[in-house]
Amino acid sequence: MNNKKNAPILSPEAVAALLEWYDTNARDLPWRRTTDPYRIWISEIMLQQTRVEAVKPYYKRFLDAFPTVGDLAAAPEEKLLKLWEGLGYYSRARNLQKAARVLVNEYNGQMPADERQLQKLPGIGDYTAGAIASIAFGLRAPAVDGNVLRVLSRVSGSYADIALSETKADFRGSLRKVIPERSGAFAQSLIELGACVCVPNGEAKCTLCPLAPWCVAKRDGKIEELPVKSAKKPRRIEEKTVLLIRDGDRTALHKRPEKGLLAGLYEYPNLPGHLSPEELPEKIRSMGFEPLQLTRLEDSKHLFTHIEWRMIAYAVKIAPEFDGYHPESGFLLVRDDDFRKSYAVPSAFSEYTKYWKKGNEK
Ligand code: ADE
Repeated sequence: MNNKKNAPILSPEAVAALLEWYDTNARDLPWRRTTDPYRIWISEIMLQQTRVEAVKPYYKRFLDAFPTVGDLAAAPEEKLLKLWEGLGYYSRARNLQKAARVLVNEYNGQMPADERQLQKLPGIGDYTAGAIASIAFGLRAPAVDGNVLRVLSRVSGSYADIALSETKADFRGSLRKVIPERSGAFAQSLIELGACVCVPNGEAKCTLCPLAPWCVAKRDGKIEELPVKSAKKPRRIEEKTVLLIRDGDRTALHKRPEKGLLAGLYEYPNLPGHLSPEELPEKIRSMGFEPLQLTRLEDSKHLFTHIEWRMIAYAVKIAPEFDGYHPESGFLLVRDDDFRKSYAVPSAFSEYTKYWKKGNEK
């Protein structure tokens, strides 16, 4: 097993085979048709936690709306969040804007061609700094994300726990020693191999793998054992009752607090616990609405990194005299057209967004 600290992890022959494979097999993706550091940065942030196919339309819309760092820095927050709606992990969008403002104020609107300076920007960690440095600037910087950790664990036959930051640091060190001149293609070749060939869950396609001749896990029949990743602590479960409060063509929304989970996004009014229809009318009146009819909707759940929401829900038909804003309660009643254009509701609630949109789409 090759797990000496910071030992080179790939031979020059293996690196050459990987690059050759990448040159003929790389997917044609929009962010591979540019070397603009801003565009590479946006793609890398969107691709954290999100699948390539899901990212594509967001990437286009985002860059159409904010073609430069300056445009992103100056964007109204609501517009930014609306463009991110459905991608999840909204702190990514807020950090993008924070970093854009730093770039405008301190770097003349340019991304620095320096791994360490990139790491200091909000939302840019070791992986993203390495990806931007190598892909956009051609610097010899390692870009080691979860997919790449899997490839490197297998090829080197390492049983080190990839959940530990020490393991990641070791792999980054070992990789740094073998990064070739074409550092951007090399970084993406490892990402691509992890995404398309050296995949998890018993589906690795070793017969297609350019690294197979050097792969310790393949040689020893250990592909399924690697990588080793210690279990995370279980998510905290929160029960909620979600209310889809409507009066014809308006839906009640509530703006979440500016700090914490889904900060500043809009949500359907919701209450802790799973409440019965008998418990609801009083609660709904205290929000400033007069309920006329309650209908139980589908249950749904949503997984965040550390929390799981288990939701039951009701459609609530209300009397129409409400004037659109209830200052004490902080609830809004928003017309369908305005809702579609301007209000970002996170995908944790998508089961219920689907429901009100049904029959309301032109
Ligand atoms: N995931 C993270 N970075 C990526 C990239 N540049 N191309 C495809 N998938 C990725």
